Amino acid sequence: MIMDTLDPQRFLSALLHMGIDRYVSGSREEPTLTSLKAKVSRCTGCELSRSRKSVVFGEGNERARVVFVGEAPGEEEDRQGRPFVGRAGKLLDQMIERIGLNRKDVFICNVLKCRPPNNRDPEAREVEVCKDYLVAQLALIKPSLICTLGKHAYNTLMGVDARITRVRGILTSYKGTKLLPTYHPSYLLRNQGAIKEAYEDMEKVKSLLAGSSPR
Ligand code: URA
Repeated sequence: MIMDTLDPQRFLSALLHMGIDRYVSGSREEPTLTSLKAKVSRCTGCELSRSRKSVVFGEGNERARVVFVGEAPGEEEDRQGRPFVGRAGKLLDQMIERIGLNRKDVFICNVLKCRPPNNRDPEAREVEVCKDYLVAQLALIKPSLICTLGKHAYNTLMGVDARITRVRGILTSYKGTKLLPTYHPSYLLRNQGAIKEAYEDMEKVKSLLAGSSPR
């Protein structure tokens, strides 16, 4: 119907005249994770869209109680279009098992949805463009807990420039949702001594989830 692109007041009074007192415009549909994914898959907001093989939107339970946020897709993720499917992903799977859950129970995504060349750090402009997608994902999923992996996810959401060794394991909140920062699994692969602390963080995640209402 094209009438609702005309004067909205006249349109509504015409409907009332016809005895119609409720109208849901097709152009005002509530966004869903599916519609957001379709939008992100077409994104050309930064240079990474030229070099990517896939857009890695993220995956898992759309009603997850916990969302894990990493940095950016690596080579394997870019190839498969799925988050954390390489070596770091195997370790993340083990961390999730520590909570007594598996990948299908949680939602896993990244700050950047496209792979930076040679796995370099995300650039400020790329984060600026992609951050809105992450914020929208979190707003749609509404988890009771966000677990950030590494400094980029933490700093992006909290708007700070902190060292992960300073903030890991310290519970904070993002827009009213609990946020627990832990180490990035790639860091843990290089620094095996830190795994103990990461597992302690997973214990914390487990008890925080136990204390939150089921969905
Ligand atoms: N590292 C990330 O931060 N995300 C992935 O998806 C894979 C590796």
